[in-house]
Amino acid sequence: MPEGDMAKPLLGRQNVESNASLIAATGNTTVGILGSGDFARSLSMRLVCSGFKVVIGSRNPKRNATLFPSAAEVTFQADAIKKTDIIFVAVFREHYTTLCDLSDELSGKILVDVSNNDEINHHKESNAEYLASLFPSCTVVKGFNVISAWTLQSGPRDGNKQVFICSNNQEAKRAIAEIAHMLGFTPVDMGSLCSAREIENIPLRLLPAWKIPVFLALGLFLCFYTYNFIRQVLHPYIREQKNKFYKIPVEVVNTTLPCVAYVMLSLVYLPGVLAAIFQLYRCTKYRRFPDWLDQWLQHRKQIGLLSFFCAALHAVYSLCLPMRRSHRYSLLRDAVSQVEKKTDPWVEEEVWRMEMYISFGIMALGLLSLLAITSLPSISNSLNWREFSFIQSSLGFVALVISTLHTLTYGWTRAFDESQYKFYLPPTFTLTLLVPCSVILAKLFFQLPCMNQRLRRIRNGWERGRYVKFTLPRASGEFSSGETSSTV
Ligand SMILES: Cc1cc2nc3c(=O)[nH]c(=O)nc-3n(C[C@H](O)[C@H](O)[C@H](O)COP(=O)(O)OP(=O)(O)OC[C@H]3O[C@@H](n4cnc5c(N)ncnc54)[C@H](O)[C@@H]3O)c2cc1C
Ligand SMILES: NC(=O)c1ccc[n+]([C@@H]2O[C@H](COP(=O)([O-])OP(=O)(O)OC[C@H]3O[C@@H](n4cnc5c(N)ncnc54)[C@H](OP(=O)(O)O)[C@@H]3O)[C@@H](O)[C@H]2O)c1
Ligand code: HEM
Repeated sequence: MPEGDMAKPLLGRQNVESNASLIAATGNTTVGILGSGDFARSLSMRLVCSGFKVVIGSRNPKRNATLFPSAAEVTFQADAIKKTDIIFVAVFREHYTTLCDLSDELSGKILVDVSNNDEINHHKESNAEYLASLFPSCTVVKGFNVISAWTLQSGPRDGNKQVFICSNNQEAKRAIAEIAHMLGFTPVDMGSLCSAREIENIPLRLLPAWKIPVFLALGLFLCFYTYNFIRQVLHPYIREQKNKFYKIPVEVVNTTLPCVAYVMLSLVYLPGVLAAIFQLYRCTKYRRFPDWLDQWLQHRKQIGLLSFFCAALHAVYSLCLPMRRSHRYSLLRDAVSQVEKKTDPWVEEEVWRMEMYISFGIMALGLLSLLAITSLPSISNSLNWREFSFIQSSLGFVALVISTLHTLTYGWTRAFDESQYKFYLPPTFTLTLLVPCSVILAKLFFQLPCMNQRLRRIRNGWERGRYVKFTLPRASGEFSSGETSSTV
């Protein structure tokens, strides 16, 4: 099965069940907000639009009333607290203590802590636990902190619909989950209040799933760039005293980018091959892969998207190659030399080679674009598992094969041309072919009937030396037991 979208909740974090009895009719439910800042304003607008009564508690209601929708009541903090049982604390942690004077009024109420910090694990205890310690007679629920004021105003989008909620009180948690649900968000139960620290860290993480793939791409770029620099710039300078430094910004980059794109693309499909080898060797799919392979499998989406990014840049660079002044000079020089020598510039083999590799390049990029588009949550959600798997697994592999044809037709016979070896270094494309060709050959090997059958049986649950009951899906899609069985 393809790797699940990273934005989806992890196993064990069930969507909070809505409790219609708690928020039966939104029109009758009054929600309080302490604070009149950006978050309070956006939240109040969304609550009003969703049919809730809203009361804002401000230190200065007169000054701030005009900032809120007219349907919302803006009053003093103590007054607002009296009018509702559910209060969103839209105030920074540093100012929680200023609310201590209102302890009596707040007693028995549900306080929703929406706060974030500036740094991961900034304080010893989470903001929500701190709030709970200041107001022991209240029930504190952590939630809504992952939603920005902007998202509250503009409405939830596919990518950021989830609201993580935790509390020690199930009823309070359900009530807040129901509000989240009614505002158009997807509440996700994160358990008790001790999870608050984890929830508070979520908006502070900077693309955590991208760290390894980005470093991988940068590492490959650096290695290939150095290699190409030595071959294309340093070699002519040292051996022929020719100044080719002008190649640094475009030509060397455009030889490096496709190499990174191509190798990264093969690294997307290599872990599937390794997974198959492990499964065939162990004769079971029920044993965990080593951690490094597990991590690798989970980062394929990011590696693939970075490969697409580099390939797209390579295509743009390639299209711009003829625009450069250096290219125009070299065309002129070639033309003059051909007139002088009276040679025919048309070399049939070269013409065909270029027509073919450009066409393969365009096809590969087209397929990669399709993969990139289907990785958008809004598109992938509209596809069923088979469609997604066909595009990602099958068409993605076809893209790898076509990229290989592109590279092979580009390289043509140059791998066997001695003059192409600079400082004994082979042309770059020969190096890039190593991993992708191995992946393609391994994938084709696993397609052999004897291997394919064995792999499919293992992936269907067969294990060596164990009796396994295979079950067939019913028409409804439910699985039943004992309809067919096979003994191993
Ligand atoms: C531009 C681009 C965009 C991409 N976008 C996405 C995306 O949105 N989402 C995405 O998931 N991938 C994405 N990818 C990565 C890649 O296309 C998919 O992961 C693809 O499904 C890999 O196909 P596969 O045939 O190698 O492996 P798969 O079809 O995933 O797996 C082969 C077998 O390996 C085993 N296996 C795989 N993963 C696991 C695992 N985690 N645990 C245990 N066993 C496992 C299973 O037995 C499975 O049958 C993208 C790639 C590119 C180039
Ligand atoms: N903005 C966002 O996108 C966002 C997203 C997620 C979470 N949050 C969280 O929401 C909370 C509020 O953020 P915000 O962006 O709305 O901040 P803000 O614009 O600075 O508003 C904070 C409000 O707190 C009130 N307040 C109460 N006591 C205060 C005191 N002693 N000193 C100063 N202000 C006091 C003020 O309202 P009165 O003057 O009316 O009392 C003030 O308007 C924070 O905890 C933040 O982490 C914000
Ligand atoms: C519109 C799509 C594409 C076009 C127009 C294109 C064009 C080119 C051109 C002109 C070259 C020669 C560059 C040079 O002279 O140094 C080249 C090389 C190459 N391309 Fe592409 N390409 C495309 C897509 C791709 C894709 C999708 C991949 C792989 C993911 C890829 C991988 C390569 C590789 C590995 C080389 C060899 C680099 C080297 O060693 O010199 N290309 N391509």
